[in-house]
Amino acid sequence: MKQISSLEEIQSFARKSSQPVVLVPTMGALHAGHLSLIEKAKKCAGPDSLVIVSIFVNPTQFDRKDDFENYPNTLVNDLAECEKMGVDVAFTPPAGAMYQPDHSITILEKSLSQTLCGATRPGHFDGVCTVVLKLFMLTNARWAVFGEKDFQQLAIIKRLVRDLNLPVEIIPSATVRENDGLAMSSRNLRLSQPARNAAPAVRRALIETKSSLENGDDVEKSIQLASQNIKNSYAEVKIDYLDLVDAENLQPVFVIRRPALLAIAVFYDDVRLIDNILIEPA
Ligand code: PAJ
Repeated sequence: MKQISSLEEIQSFARKSSQPVVLVPTMGALHAGHLSLIEKAKKCAGPDSLVIVSIFVNPTQFDRKDDFENYPNTLVNDLAECEKMGVDVAFTPPAGAMYQPDHSITILEKSLSQTLCGATRPGHFDGVCTVVLKLFMLTNARWAVFGEKDFQQLAIIKRLVRDLNLPVEIIPSATVRENDGLAMSSRNLRLSQPARNAAPAVRRALIETKSSLENGDDVEKSIQLASQNIKNSYAEVKIDYLDLVDAENLQPVFVIRRPALLAIAVFYDDVRLIDNILIEPA
């Protein structure tokens, strides 16, 4: 496996390559969820493709300085995992190299980012779109893989590709979970033991609500019940949002006529976790 940190080098390497590139963008601290994306990349793009994993903690998508500063860095381990998975290139740009000190151009997303995580994290998805576009350009990506755990991010990246006519095909990949149902996340490591024990309540509540909504139960009542069950799981829990939105346009839904998404962000102590589940019309 090659490790490339220089922007000029990755760009000329990708341009010269006769193999099409499949990109897996990450912020490192790799876990089994990320590794499943690499597996999917290899499977979907085929044996002739070049798998590039980018590892870059993107400062422009953090709305809280402490969250950015506390983001785990496990680069040595990440590189070893990539090597084991048969990744061709790990692209690891240094913190200062991706943005010029006086950078002044940003991608703005004005619709899909108005709800869910975008509503409580202003500017987050503009930072994501900007860095992802840069990564696509730097690696000359033909395909890129994104996890369904970050459903809103996936929807926004698909829109970025559509609206800017980018020559990249987006490959979605299913959420990987711990045995007790908790969605894998780099942030799970920061949960205290009692919070870690309680956190699977989120997944349980989503599954129960899916079943009641698909049986035709009232949306507001079902969401209230889910919210109460999660609150009962742990004293120091705070629900950032628990919303039902249209699975296409991410706008709030009160009657389910088309596939919808029940999405949640929740703080256990001060650790923010997200998850979601698709709901079919009854
Ligand atoms: P990061 O949080 O490192 O996630 C990288 C990719 O892994 C994303 O596509 C995310 O959806 C996926 N992922 C995370 N946990 C997963 C799980 N349990 N199962 C399946 N996939 C999972 O998302 C980002 O980084 C950044 O916003 C990025 C796109 C790299 C731009 O900076």
